[in-house]
Amino acid sequence: TIHPWRKSNLRGIVFYNIEALRGEEVRIFDTTLRDGEQTPGVSLTPEEKIIIARQLDKLGVNVIEAGFPVSSRGDFEAVRMVAAEGLSAEVCGLARIMRKDIDAALDAGVDMVHVFVSTSDIQIQHTIKKSREEIVAQAVEAVEYVKSHGRTCLFSAMDATRTPVPFLKEIFGAVEGARCDIINIPDTVGVAIPTTFRQLVREICNSTKKMVVDVHCHNDFGLAVANNLAAFEAGAREVQVAANGLGERAGNANLAETVMGLHSMYGAKTTIHTPYLFETAKLVERLTEVRISRTAPIVGENAFAHESGIHSHGVLERSDTFEPGIMTPEMVGHKRRIVLGKHTGRHAVKQSLSEMGYAPNDDQLQEILERVKDLGDKGKAVTGADLMTIAEVVIGEL
Ligand code: KIV
Ligand code: ZN
Repeated sequence: TIHPWRKSNLRGIVFYNIEALRGEEVRIFDTTLRDGEQTPGVSLTPEEKIIIARQLDKLGVNVIEAGFPVSSRGDFEAVRMVAAEGLSAEVCGLARIMRKDIDAALDAGVDMVHVFVSTSDIQIQHTIKKSREEIVAQAVEAVEYVKSHGRTCLFSAMDATRTPVPFLKEIFGAVEGARCDIINIPDTVGVAIPTTFRQLVREICNSTKKMVVDVHCHNDFGLAVANNLAAFEAGAREVQVAANGLGERAGNANLAETVMGLHSMYGAKTTIHTPYLFETAKLVERLTEVRISRTAPIVGENAFAHESGIHSHGVLERSDTFEPGIMTPEMVGHKRRIVLGKHTGRHAVKQSLSEMGYAPNDDQLQEILERVKDLGDKGKAVTGADLMTIAEVVIGEL
C-alpha cells in the first residue's frame, strides 16, 4: 500500500496523500449513551437507552458505550440491560482505574471495559493528586485486571492534548505491555486543532506496536469532527462519536458528520448503514429532547433544502450543481426540499405547482411567483397550502 505521508522535496514539508486512504477501515465507537448522556439536562431511562442502543446497532456502529456502571444504580442497570440485548455491536462500560469501577463494568456484562485516568499536569494536580509513577502503575494494574477477565480493554489518557507527549508515550507504552487492546487520545477540553492533533496522533501511532489508536474529541471550538478526520489521516483507526454531537459542554464529535466525512470525503470504510443516519438522529432528538438545529449538517431540516431561484433551478436540473454530490439525501435517509420564499424563482414554483397538478400559463405563473415573493418578503414561510391557495385564486382570475 502507498504510505499516506510523503515528504515533498520542498523544505521537507509533509503533504498528505488523501487518495491513499481510500478503502481504509475505521471503527465507529459511539458514546451517545455515556458521554452523550452527560449533556447537561439529559438523563435517559434504561428503557430509553435500550431503544437507542438497538437503533445504533441497526445503524452498524462497532462499539456502543452504554454508560458508567459504577456511577449510579440506574446506569448499572442500563448497561446490564444493553449488554444482555445480544447486539452485534460490542458493548462497553466506562471505569476509572479502580477495582470497584472495573468490577461494576464486569458485573454489568460488558464486552469491553473503557478505563481512564487523567494524565495532564493540571488535572493530576487538581483532581487526582497522585504522582505520575503511581498513575502509571495503577493504569497497568487496571488493564491487567480487565485482561485477566478476558474482556477487551480500552485505555484513555484523559486530557491527552494537554499532556506532555513523553508522558503520554510512557503511559501508553506501559499499558501496551499489559496487553491493552485500544488506546484513546481524548481531546477532553476541545483545544486541539487539526494540524497539531494530526501530528500528535501520528507520533502516538508510530510509538505503538499492536494497539488500535482511538480518539475522543470534544467540540468546544467547533473542531471535534475536523479533529476526528485529522486523526484518521494520521493513522487512528477508531473514532468516538455521539449522535447529534451530544456530550459534556459543547458535546462530542457528531456521529453523522464524522461518518459522512469518512465515507464521502476520504472513501474510508466503516460498518455504518448510512441511510439510517437521519432516523437515528431524529430518534435521539426525541428521546433526549435536545433539538437538532435547522441548519445542522446532514440531518438538519435544511441540510438538503433549497430556496434561492438560482440554486433551486440548478438542483432541479441536476442535484450536484448546488449540493456536494458525494453526499446525497438518499445516502443518509433524508429528503431534498425546494422551499418557496422571497428568493424563489420560476422553475421552483413551476415544479411545485406541477407536483400539485397545476399547469399555469406563463402569465399565471408570473403572477403566482410575484405573490409567493410578496408573502416571503413579509417574513412568512410559504407553505404548500399557501401555494395552492395562491394558484387557485390566480388561475381563477387570469
Ligand atoms: O472527555 C474525556 O476525556 C472523556 C474520557 C472519559 C474519555 O470522556
Ligand atoms: Zn468526553
